[in-house]
Amino acid sequence: MTDQNSAIKFYSGEQIPVELHKVRIVQKLFLKPIEERKAAMEEAGFNTFLLSTKDVFLDMLTDSGTNAMSDNQVSSMLQADDAYAGSQSFYRMERALRDVFGKHYVLPAHQGRAAENIVSQAFIKKGDVIPMNYHFTTTKEHMELNGGKVLEIFADDALEIKSSKLFKGNIDIEKLKAVFKEYGKERVAFVRMEASTNLIGGQPFSMQNMRDVKKVCDENETMMVLDASLIGENAYFIKQREEEFKNADIKDILLEMCSYADLVYFSSRKVSSTRGGGIVTNSKDLYMKMRDLLVLYEGFLTYGGMSVREIEAMAVGINETCDETVISQSPSFIAYAVNQLDAAGIPVITPPGALGCHVDAKGFLPHVPQAEYPAGALASALFIISGIRGMERGTISSVRDENGDDILADVELLRLAFPRRVFTLSQTMFVVDRVKWLYDNRELIGGLEWVEEPPLLRFFMGRLKAKTDWPEKLLAKFKKDFGESL
Ligand code: F0G
Repeated sequence: MTDQNSAIKFYSGEQIPVELHKVRIVQKLFLKPIEERKAAMEEAGFNTFLLSTKDVFLDMLTDSGTNAMSDNQVSSMLQADDAYAGSQSFYRMERALRDVFGKHYVLPAHQGRAAENIVSQAFIKKGDVIPMNYHFTTTKEHMELNGGKVLEIFADDALEIKSSKLFKGNIDIEKLKAVFKEYGKERVAFVRMEASTNLIGGQPFSMQNMRDVKKVCDENETMMVLDASLIGENAYFIKQREEEFKNADIKDILLEMCSYADLVYFSSRKVSSTRGGGIVTNSKDLYMKMRDLLVLYEGFLTYGGMSVREIEAMAVGINETCDETVISQSPSFIAYAVNQLDAAGIPVITPPGALGCHVDAKGFLPHVPQAEYPAGALASALFIISGIRGMERGTISSVRDENGDDILADVELLRLAFPRRVFTLSQTMFVVDRVKWLYDNRELIGGLEWVEEPPLLRFFMGRLKAKTDWPEKLLAKFKKDFGESL
């Protein structure tokens, strides 16, 4: 099918993404006054994870488990087959995964990080290294807990904020070869590729890069593991940006991508707009190394910690990943927001990627030192002035070294996620408008400091406070400019 999103042209010549779905179930939203938003932010310890949705207007924290489901997904939930073992719901999902990912053995897990736990326990031993395009937070923790070390081998220019490079998620092949040379293949547990690489701004890798990585893996008899949480969007970008695939079917692109991986795992909270996860492979040997761990940690093999209703919806959602109107929806709205902000001179990651619009907090707030968490400060400030909840993806999401010093993140990002089919264009325009106002008033924003800092995954539960009275100043300026408007 043609990409209808970009095929519909406006008479005005404007490039506007048209919703290719109609809304049939809605949830009411409230935008509270700024005084209440500021109080809610203080209560939440300047951590957007700790906000209550009753205080949030547009929830752009994540697309994880928050994509809108289709009518077919919701109706499929009614035919769920409740059974501890041998549920028909599982077999329907297994068929969908065999068909779309081309892998025979299916291990269900309650979410993506549960799959990471099993894969890390099964295949990483102390002293191993795991080369990859870029880490994801939970991935890295699981690998390190099992004694592994993450090596990020992206291209030198992959972290440049403003860029015209189409595949910033590529692995640098020379660096990969150097890893094998330095450590020897015995110490490389596996090579991991993450589709639509989350923490560098939802940036895809190319099919050619997968082929090249696979070749090096084969030469070194090492397996390739694919994190397919955002595989649909990566496949869409391959079709859009890689000449060879411009007329290819998404289904064929997905199959080819998966064919290079010995093992594919995913968060179905993203890939199929449901709540769960899984691991698939064609190797009986790999399957057997994980099977018993799965039963121990997740549940029996035919539910893996998921409700059978979610499993039914997942079967449908996996098939919908082959529908270009589904996988292009979020990227086309992201592209709209990114292009508007970029045109206004606001530092955002380009080219537009998957998952969300990523604002560069270092460029936005050059006066806030990295040690005072500019991305966290920006996320807090945006919530106060708009009720929009984004996510810090910078040094707060990083960790401390052996000496207790912050490991400053490579990039300081405020991620504004666009869950699939959730927000309308006018809501997207509101986001752009408020980010522009904030940029014009950026000198009012100051830094943050810790009040309570958990040792593990501190960004989830940690609490901070403003280092000065900058939130009051921001509120006063907002009132001056907007009066009684929300
Ligand atoms: N891998 C990637 C690439 C992810 O983006 C995520 C989750 C996971 C694994 C873990 O999956 O949440 O189901 O356990 N990303 C979410 C996010 C949390 O907001 O980006 P999970």
